[in-house]
Amino acid sequence: MPDFTSLRTLAEQTAQHAYAPYSKLRVGAALRATSGAVYAGCNVENASYSIGGCAERAAIAAAVQAEGAAFRLAAIAVAAFSDTGTPLPVSPCGACRQALIEFGIEAGVSFRQPDGSWVEVDVDALLPYRFILPAQ
Ligand code: THU
Repeated sequence: MPDFTSLRTLAEQTAQHAYAPYSKLRVGAALRATSGAVYAGCNVENASYSIGGCAERAAIAAAVQAEGAAFRLAAIAVAAFSDTGTPLPVSPCGACRQALIEFGIEAGVSFRQPDGSWVEVDVDALLPYRFILPAQ
């Protein structure tokens, strides 16, 4: 497994930037590319609820903007807090799992479990039977 220590800290810091007036759930994600560079993102909600975006995909967008199509994901940490600052367990949603796999089938993912501890898992294990565009 990759080293998640600094990614967890950055994810927690980035969660403080979340725009989450509707759910009140502040989520931050910090990822390391195989290049060694680090990128972060937070959730950004909207009054038109369905156009809000997740922290993980914001971090991926930042990485692609910086590195282009060469971007590959090595590791990502996700951190979440209540509006009052209590750490909460949040694992990547289904859509984000599909997005993570697109950029790194062997990437490591770390997030808090309900008991407060951090889990470290391969992204491959997070989404069995995922969508793969069939060759035609
Ligand atoms: N959220 C994320 O940022 N990442 C996830 O993987 C799950 C959910 C955000 C989206 C929304 O702003 C809030 O959490 C509540 O769903």
